[in-house]
Amino acid sequence: MYNVPKLEDYSAALDKAVNELLAAVETEAQAVADAKACEELRNRWMARKNGVLTQINDLWLKAAPGPNKRDVGQRVNQIRAKVEETIEATQQRIAGSSADARLKAEMIDISLPGIRRSLGVKHPVLKVLDDLIGVFVKMGYSIAEGPEVESDYYNFEALNFPPNHPARDTQDTLFIANQERRPQRDRLLLRTHTSPVQIRSMEKLKPPVRVICPGKVHRNDTPDATHYPVFHQIEGLCVDTNITFADLKGTLEHAMQSLFGSNVKTSFRPSFFPFTEPSVEVSISCPFCGGKGCRPCKQSGWIELLGAGMVDPNVYGFVGYDPAKLSGFAFGMGIERLAMMSYNVDDIQQFFYGDMRFLEQFA
Ligand code: DAH
Repeated sequence: MYNVPKLEDYSAALDKAVNELLAAVETEAQAVADAKACEELRNRWMARKNGVLTQINDLWLKAAPGPNKRDVGQRVNQIRAKVEETIEATQQRIAGSSADARLKAEMIDISLPGIRRSLGVKHPVLKVLDDLIGVFVKMGYSIAEGPEVESDYYNFEALNFPPNHPARDTQDTLFIANQERRPQRDRLLLRTHTSPVQIRSMEKLKPPVRVICPGKVHRNDTPDATHYPVFHQIEGLCVDTNITFADLKGTLEHAMQSLFGSNVKTSFRPSFFPFTEPSVEVSISCPFCGGKGCRPCKQSGWIELLGAGMVDPNVYGFVGYDPAKLSGFAFGMGIERLAMMSYNVDDIQQFFYGDMRFLEQFA
């Protein structure tokens, strides 16, 4: 860094000192790279107190003998002008380069295409579920939900499953571990159907009751084209005075025609469920071939869609309803099966892989 020398004479020594000073300010100015260094440079050279300019004023001008004052004075003025100019230029260079840098960083190219955010769509299973819910809500049903981790009592016992019914077997039911010390009815499991929500709804509501219960259910199944350990069901329950099998038929026929078109026929065949008596298996005429026979209906003209029946009087006993005064019907169906039919999907596992190539087809 530059130090102001004392002058030994006012001719050759002065010339040399002036040249060295001007070279020094130039070199120091060129080394400045940021605003902080620029400020330091300014202070070192131009500060009133002890800046280089002040120093040459004292050491060179004031110390000069009378005959040399005029010459030294002119030189000091020239130096002052040159130093001020150099520092000014340096300040401008630094301000300019930081503005440049900012402009570069902030620059946007308005000719580039924008980033389009893709909107999500409903999963096909949820879409079918919501369509079905809509049909029943229009008929005056409300929506009820229950827990996926359910007790043995709600999943089986209150639905009139006898103690050793095969459906309680670990073959199908996923039980929560380490509950051997609990009484059987309190043991927790992943609900195997949405039917326990029937019981929970009747416990909460006074008749008349009209609810649908959509949700996830779980079974200990090995995945294949038609099985998956998690799937969705929708349950329906209608209890009132004088509800008959004709109401069940009319309701389901209406629901199926709303979903598949008014030409669709329904068929009811005897079946068995512990919580309904009589029980039926409901099929619809194949919406693809109109009943002639095709691949989705396995050439039979019919597609089996749901289980249903008149609520077994024993079930009312579990919820404090009077079976002598009340009657009702219930039904339950798997949503994935419906979705597979509606969208012509041949492998249920597709619904659960989360593969965008599959899901994007429903956008
Ligand atoms: N819960 C039965 C199942 O998962 C389906 C079912 C059948 C539900 C008959 C009902 C019904 O409400 O009445 O296989």
